[in-house]
Amino acid sequence: MTSARSIVLIGMMGAGKSSVGRCLERRTGLRRFDTDEMVSARLDRSISDIFSTLGEDEFRRAETEALASLTPMPSAIIVTGGGIVLRSENIEHLKRLGVVVWLEADEDILFERAARRGNRPLLATDDPRTTLAKILAERTPLYTKAADIRLNTADRGHEEVTDLILAEIENRTVPVT
Ligand code: S3P
Repeated sequence: MTSARSIVLIGMMGAGKSSVGRCLERRTGLRRFDTDEMVSARLDRSISDIFSTLGEDEFRRAETEALASLTPMPSAIIVTGGGIVLRSENIEHLKRLGVVVWLEADEDILFERAARRGNRPLLATDDPRTTLAKILAERTPLYTKAADIRLNTADRGHEEVTDLILAEIENRTVPVT
């Protein structure tokens, strides 16, 4: 029997959370919630627009509000923005929601993937590569604190990552007798 807990994806921009979240949605049939999509819908503008017009603080406030609106039941696939771990109240809520899976990759790979689409407001700096390194260093202890499962996505496709997550969760499930 599978557990009734949600699968929560955390990790840096470029880690593959959105794509893996969609694979998990398809494979499990569970509903998917993406905090960036929720914030964007609620404020009726893109994440880049929110950062440039309302600022990061307002984005973080809306992000916490979106996360807080999610409940542990019914179980779901929950995809988060890379900075969700910056607030400790968010980490506590993520843990209440379900199994927290940290998608990781080497810094170079994260940068290559995150910079590709040019839509990451936090990387709109003079030296985005250094900015990403700094953000990663700041957040690594927070991801470590939040995660139940850690998975390197560097040389893996989204389907393979999805297989590994589902297998790991199945292994952890205590059979109901
Ligand atoms: C952010 C990551 C983004 C988005 C926002 C802030 C961050 O989501 O929430 O641009 O602080 O790392 P992705 O992780 O999906 O890129």
